Amino acid sequence: MTAKRSLLSGFGGYLPERIVTNDELATWLDTSDEWIRARTGIAQRHMAGEGDTAVSMAAQAARQALDYAGARPDDVDAVIVATSTPDQAFPSTAVRVQAELGMTGGFGFDLAAACSGFIYALSMADSLIRSGQARSALVIGSEVYSRILDKSDRGTYVLFGDGAGAVYLTSTDEAGEAGILSTHLHSDGRYGDLLFVDGATGQHDKPAHLRMNGREVFRHAVGKLSSSVDEVLAANGLTHADVNWLVPHQANLRIIDGVARKLALPPERVVVTVDRHANTSAASIPLALNEAVRDGRINRGDLVLMEALGGGLTWGSALARL
Ligand code: UT7
Repeated sequence: MTAKRSLLSGFGGYLPERIVTNDELATWLDTSDEWIRARTGIAQRHMAGEGDTAVSMAAQAARQALDYAGARPDDVDAVIVATSTPDQAFPSTAVRVQAELGMTGGFGFDLAAACSGFIYALSMADSLIRSGQARSALVIGSEVYSRILDKSDRGTYVLFGDGAGAVYLTSTDEAGEAGILSTHLHSDGRYGDLLFVDGATGQHDKPAHLRMNGREVFRHAVGKLSSSVDEVLAANGLTHADVNWLVPHQANLRIIDGVARKLALPPERVVVTVDRHANTSAASIPLALNEAVRDGRINRGDLVLMEALGGGLTWGSALARL
């Protein structure tokens, strides 16, 4: 018997119905479709409607991931939801999702690591599976950033969208190459003021808004993500040439292109959703994975490299063979 590993067994995603184009934003905000496309690659974003909450979107994505794997809610041991925009301080989004799915066992918790949340949650779930504490896990990113955006700040309002993505992990101890190979996490709180939310739950007199020094975050992103992808490849004795797919956090096409160039990966090996989803924070990687697996681009046996950077600063990478 070999050591336990986590297999990526199911994929799901949910995007709110309402699509907001750059042109629509430009009708009331001092911005333009040309500026947004040129600086970010974004053409549109989905925005939560009345019925869309962090819980409802997470549950929809989770259901799809379980269906993909042919699993039932009661097969799930752990539910981890990465979110910076929970509906409530507590109970956690994860336990609400448990209830929505009709789970009667297992455990769930939320994890806050901003845009790196999915990589962090994947790492936690993988550790639970490797240690034997869980035999399966739903790893979900669900975000409603439209709730924390300042409508008067063109520097941030145009960048984000809402949505949820999920991956269902199962444990295996059979010989083989498939599964999560390793995950690598970093944070540096000295940069906490480059990207933050200026309030907390309970401060109802002052709505909390996302604030960002975009230029500085951009500068950190390219350098830190490049060393992060080097780190995960070196840890597994692999090189850039072994990577079949880059599934990056979707903040800005210029950042994605920068990391892809460093890996010498042609654009057709990079999964891009930022043009249609904008930045959905912790949901962006599982949404991109779901899309590329379902449309047949990513196949079993492919080596998939994931990376993200976000508020904290937090950043990290993960390598998985599907
Ligand atoms: O996911 C979490 C991590 N986040 C990121 O990775 C985001 C990283 N940062 C970025 O992606 C980019 O820095 C931005 C897209 C946020 C901004 O792009 P930039 O090329 O760094 O632009 P900038 O902030 O240097 O702004 C350039 C100009 C400024 O005007 P002046 O000072 O040159 O006159 C801005 O006021 O563009 C102006 N500007 C806008 N103009 C039209 C800023 N936002 C807008 C806008 N529309 N929406």
